[in-house]
Amino acid sequence: MQRVVLVTGTSSGIGLELARKLSNSDYRVIITARRNSLPLLTQEFAENSRFLIRELDLTDFSAIHTLVDEIERFWGGVDILVNNAGISYRSVVEDMTDTDEWRQMATNYLGPMCLIRSVLPSMRQKRAGRIINVSSVGGMMAMPTMASYSASKFALEGASEALWYELRPWNIQVSLIQPGFIHSESFRRVVYSQTHQARLLRHERSPFQAYYEQMERFVTLMMEHAPQTAEDIADLIIHTMNRRRPPLRVPGTLDAHLFALLRRLLPRSLYHQLLYRLLPGIRLWGKEE
Ligand SMILES: NC(=O)c1ccc[n+]([C@@H]2O[C@H](COP(=O)([O-])OP(=O)(O)OC[C@H]3O[C@@H](n4cnc5c(N)ncnc54)[C@H](OP(=O)(O)O)[C@@H]3O)[C@@H](O)[C@H]2O)c1
Repeated sequence: MQRVVLVTGTSSGIGLELARKLSNSDYRVIITARRNSLPLLTQEFAENSRFLIRELDLTDFSAIHTLVDEIERFWGGVDILVNNAGISYRSVVEDMTDTDEWRQMATNYLGPMCLIRSVLPSMRQKRAGRIINVSSVGGMMAMPTMASYSASKFALEGASEALWYELRPWNIQVSLIQPGFIHSESFRRVVYSQTHQARLLRHERSPFQAYYEQMERFVTLMMEHAPQTAEDIADLIIHTMNRRRPPLRVPGTLDAHLFALLRRLLPRSLYHQLLYRLLPGIRLWGKEE
């Protein structure tokens, strides 16, 4: 039997590269995107008896159940779930609104968890399945202006770790892919908080102006010069899908390996002091009124 793979967030970046690779594979595949991005997918991919394109917004939990029900009727359930879709707020904690926090958590944690809960009964019945959650270096370390993003990925990491224990007796493998900086345009898709957007509209400087400017410059530079690409991460996901016993955590880039090592080896207080000193333009932070 061809295994059924469901991938979220396939309109760009890692998800799109994964969709391209899966469209030429033996799997039965469902790729998903939100309504506005569906035309991008229908232009590039053609539906056929083993390849489906569906709308899915992860913040719409009833749509998640409807889609999984459809896949169960059509193909008997999902064998491999790749929770790839994600957004990243660039915002200091003080600027986030409740709505911003909800959107960040719903997209990166609550939606993926809802999807996992929906596919699990059929995986358990078959005593087989794979859940691959795309996390981030932000899921092992937090950075200023990325608190909510990190919180969402830390949450995904924690839940995945618990699931790894829960599902092992059912022969369901759980893995976290942890990309760091990759050569991609995704820094252009960061989301700004309602507070920050309103301030920009009023041409007002923020007390955290230096944080935003320096972090934006740093992240853009790192992404422009990163050696690994979205395609490399897509290859890593496929490799993980095909491994007989994939590990729980799969670092995706060189910096992911480096930070995992630093966090393991350095005493925590030293690690935080070191990172603080290395923050871009740290001497300018906290100087605005
Ligand atoms: N790029 C990196 O450097 C990097 C590093 C570490 C981790 N990651 C993680 O890797 C994953 C993919 O990142 P990427 O850089 O490839 O991202 P990307 O190019 O920005 O693509 C994100 C995808 O998520 C979808 N998405 C956003 N909000 C959604 C929602 N509410 N419901 C359903 N889909 C939604 C987007 O679809 P729409 O077209 O509908 O917006 C898009 O297809 C994410 O989980 C990200 O956190 C990326």
